[in-house]
Amino acid sequence: MGLPRGQLLWLLLLLAAACSGVLFALFLVEKPHPGPWSGARNTIASGAVSGPNAVNSGTRKSRPCRYPLALAVQRYPHFQALFDFSKPVLLSGGLFTQELWDSLSQRKAPYGWQGLSRQAIISTLSLLNNSESTQLFGSRELLWGCIRCAVVGNGGILNGSRQGLNIDAHDYVFRLNGAVIKGFEEDVGTKTSFYGFTVNTMKNSLISYKKLGFTSVPQGQDLHYIFIPSDIRDYVMLTSAILGVPVRTGPDKGDRPQTYFGPEASASKFKLLHPGFISYLTERFLKSKLINTTFGNLYMPSTGALMLLTALHTCDQVSAFGFITSNYWKFSDHYFERIKKPLIFYANHDLPLEAALWRDLHTAGILQLYQR
Ligand SMILES: *[C@@H]1O[C@H](CO)[C@@H](O)[C@H](O)[C@H]1NC(C)=O
Ligand SMILES: *[C@@H]1O[C@H](CO)[C@@H](O)[C@H](O)[C@H]1NC(C)=O
Ligand SMILES: *[C@@H]1O[C@H](CO)[C@@H](O)[C@H](O)[C@H]1NC(C)=O
Repeated sequence: MGLPRGQLLWLLLLLAAACSGVLFALFLVEKPHPGPWSGARNTIASGAVSGPNAVNSGTRKSRPCRYPLALAVQRYPHFQALFDFSKPVLLSGGLFTQELWDSLSQRKAPYGWQGLSRQAIISTLSLLNNSESTQLFGSRELLWGCIRCAVVGNGGILNGSRQGLNIDAHDYVFRLNGAVIKGFEEDVGTKTSFYGFTVNTMKNSLISYKKLGFTSVPQGQDLHYIFIPSDIRDYVMLTSAILGVPVRTGPDKGDRPQTYFGPEASASKFKLLHPGFISYLTERFLKSKLINTTFGNLYMPSTGALMLLTALHTCDQVSAFGFITSNYWKFSDHYFERIKKPLIFYANHDLPLEAALWRDLHTAGILQLYQR
């Protein structure tokens, strides 16, 4: 479930052991109450909740959500203070202003643009300058009524889970990094609506998990890519992908984006996570103690965490599969490993903190976390 091992990752086993001990103890004392999907609850009138898609709620009559996550958020002051559904999730050309440049230039990627070429950023954003770039789902889909999403992490808990049909039954399925599907259809499903990554995690996954079956990034007509802007590389690759030309500069120079994303390249196929959204998520949901250590510059939420929180800010209901649970030690690091490999905690992510967040969101009925 952790990222592929990069050269910059350091082992912090002690920290992990300490944190996960606390985590497990917390889990034992907390009794989860029945989730919102298990019992009958009053169907709320659309428009009653200011949720991710509230702007469209007036026209969404066909299939209202029985229990939208925004309603669950409202029931918990703690989460109500964290969630801001008005925060832009995606970055597009229309949002670019001098003020945005000035503010994002104060922070390093993935939270901003400090040290990055203004010209490179503007070239990318000028290609993402239409209404499709501002939202994950098309406006027609927003009329449906209830958007149900599954976010599939790569955790070993999915091995033998037989959750494939359940996952595919969601309106949208998010996957990320080394999302091996072939041979694991029964456990992880086949549908992919969004694939999230940084160029670094994608390329590391293709190298590290090649022998385990990750030979290509998911591709398909209805599939969209979510770039996490962790480096200038991400902006440069995104520009080349939309233009359909080889990467011109940087460590990926010469790469042909079609080899990753398939022949059909158009601006609407690619989405870019807003650096301000990544700051907001980190600040409010995943403010790790690691930030104040020597690993502070390495730390960022995991790709899985960014995708799950993206879904929680755009979908009406969210189920998480293959994410870290309190009993993670029972399972292999990834579902596609052949021999059990323990999950190792690296200093670039704070998986115990993420596990506690998923557990609390599940307990509050804001998401449904697959556990076994
Ligand atoms: C986006 O399009 C508008 C209107 O055509 C234009 O004024 C603006 O400069 C574009 N933004 C970028 C970043 O290219
Ligand atoms: C980091 O340290 C600063 C200053 O000591 C403190 O205000 C902040 O809360 C700390 N952050 C975390 C996440 O521990
Ligand atoms: C995956 O599940 C199978 C069947 O339950 C089991 O035999 C195998 O050891 C598991 N693989 C890993 C890596 O845990």
